[in-house]
Amino acid sequence: MTDSPSRATRAVWAGEQESLTQGATQVPVVYSAAYGYPDVDSWLDVAGGRVPGHIYSRNTNPTVQAFEEKVRALEDAEAATSFATGMAAISNALFTLLSPGDRIVSVKDTYGGTTKVFTEFLPRFHVRVELCDTADHDQVEAAIRQGCRVVYLESPTNPTLKVMDIARLSRAGHEQGAVVIADNTFATPINQNPLALGADLVVHSATKFLGGHADALGGVICGARHLVERVYHYREITGAALDPMAAYLLIRGMKTLHLRVRQQNESALGIARWLREQPAVGAVFYPGLDTHPQHEVARRQMRGYGGVLSFMLRGGFEAVRLVLPRLRFAHRAANLGAVETIVGVPSTTSHVECTAEEREAMGIPEGLIRYSVGVEDVDDLIADLSQALDALPSPNG
Ligand SMILES: Cc1ncc(COP(=O)(O)O)c(C=O)c1O
Repeated sequence: MTDSPSRATRAVWAGEQESLTQGATQVPVVYSAAYGYPDVDSWLDVAGGRVPGHIYSRNTNPTVQAFEEKVRALEDAEAATSFATGMAAISNALFTLLSPGDRIVSVKDTYGGTTKVFTEFLPRFHVRVELCDTADHDQVEAAIRQGCRVVYLESPTNPTLKVMDIARLSRAGHEQGAVVIADNTFATPINQNPLALGADLVVHSATKFLGGHADALGGVICGARHLVERVYHYREITGAALDPMAAYLLIRGMKTLHLRVRQQNESALGIARWLREQPAVGAVFYPGLDTHPQHEVARRQMRGYGGVLSFMLRGGFEAVRLVLPRLRFAHRAANLGAVETIVGVPSTTSHVECTAEEREAMGIPEGLIRYSVGVEDVDDLIADLSQALDALPSPNG
């Protein structure tokens, strides 16, 4: 560049560097595909990892790195790397760690997209997939003992809120030399830290509670550095990078994660207890209820039970059709973990990818309602549910 660049050149360059460093109190959204260097040697220093910096935003980006660092710190992990979505995080981890001939042990209740990777994609690469009954830890342990490369856990599960004993199954996995992955999306790092319980990698759909405002997609994986680096390498080559604007929104959302989750824990427990008393409600699934089959495990490994519950209406799917449209304070949408309450049925949300037969095999009743509690006043939410249930014909005719 000349000593006195033209106005056109100044318009592009002037003030740019300063605006990144001069007193900005928020992480800037760095929308730059690549990063420039004045000479080949300083460029090579960064490319070779000798000097910190960025080369190309598919690999690393300052805004994205700030998001990864926040999650890493919250999960007490050695390292973290992020993805365009939660499913990208999950599939990249699985395709990094598994090779033809390997065996993976998981359960029938994982999130529908994850189940599809297990049933549709991994077998095409000759990975043997063993999906056990989620609540039957003896069965899961026995499957692990037959040898496996990866143990994949999700706790609590979407949408039936089953709880897996992460410490016990991590021990079993490690005896076989397996890598243990845990999906912590429903619990959030506020309520549960799978790495501290023995897992090797934690995965999140950041789209959900981490972001918390239903306005950005993202995924993240964190854990032991040598494993995260392998998954990072797969992602930098195959390309499912997180967008910097999404990273910015996730960072902004995460600043209130602890406040939101604390409120959602409390409200979800209150709503689950209330629902349990309603004659129209056949069953309520929430790990915080003392009647939940894995409540003792949940008590041991969680500090709060999360903001999602599910329940069944005695009137089946017809009752769901009547109740859902009446809710005033709930989006009917395929999402969860936001500041607004969101309601859905698995056949249109978490398990829309699955056939009715697959949902049946996973033990997901067609009339199940998933209720993700927002940060509204809990009394208003209960009143809303109450008036919606009033739409149902009385059980006595
Ligand atoms: C438990 C769980 N894991 C992973 C995912 C996938 O996340 P994403 O939609 O960000 O790809 C979801 C999505 O609902 C989920 O509920």
